[in-house]
Amino acid sequence: MRKPVIAGNWKMYKTVGESVDTALALKPLVANANHCEVIIAPVFTSLKVVADRLEGSNVRVSGQNCSTEVEEGAHTGEVAAFMLRDAGASYVIVGHSERRQFYSETDAMVRRKCQAAISAGLTVIMCVGETLDQRELGNAKNVVRGQLNGGLSGLTALDLDRIIVAYEPVWAIGTGRTATPEQAQEMHAFIRRVFAEGHTATAAEALRILYGGSVKPENISGLMVQGDIDGALVGGASLKAESFAKIVNYKDE
Ligand code: PGA
Repeated sequence: MRKPVIAGNWKMYKTVGESVDTALALKPLVANANHCEVIIAPVFTSLKVVADRLEGSNVRVSGQNCSTEVEEGAHTGEVAAFMLRDAGASYVIVGHSERRQFYSETDAMVRRKCQAAISAGLTVIMCVGETLDQRELGNAKNVVRGQLNGGLSGLTALDLDRIIVAYEPVWAIGTGRTATPEQAQEMHAFIRRVFAEGHTATAAEALRILYGGSVKPENISGLMVQGDIDGALVGGASLKAESFAKIVNYKDE
């Protein structure tokens, strides 16, 4: 059985104080959520204090990005995966579409980041997803296949346990336009097939595939009943503890 994952991506929102307030408000609201892993990804500057304040709870902390470089060194502005781990993170989001689109992140960079994160003992949430143009041209699956193979090549069977894939169609992120549960399920099943081809059927069966793009308390249950949707990566609706908690507790909704 794959344990679902509900992750909140706070993007570039919240000061340290606001991050701590939201994390502390969330903690009791999700304390009984044993059915899934609960993750929040604050900005780098809030990560350590949030992780410290959540210690002993069931809420884990994630970075939103990490350096392609494994070792410390002269890389101004970068944060290494092992530094995220040291600050209390257990996960890191890699290859988010905003990084691919606005910070020129390539599949080769995503692959190095995945490898750096795994070697630091982090679990990677690797994002893939097509733009609206790519979908309308009928290229969605080719794009997603390229991103999957490009980001994950060269990983060992053991490494694959530390990979979570998030399918986030770019046209659904922050737009209020969610993929229908059927559209998402179709792509998730495809991702599992591609993963089985590139690795093994067993690894593909165990892979958690999250959906992301305008997930809200109102649409989470319809997504979670789909066979290949194993959780969600939530942006906007994760910024408020109450709405994120409703998504985490989707079984009660
Ligand atoms: P959204 O963002 O939920 O605000 O659409 C999702 C994401 O970018 O991870």
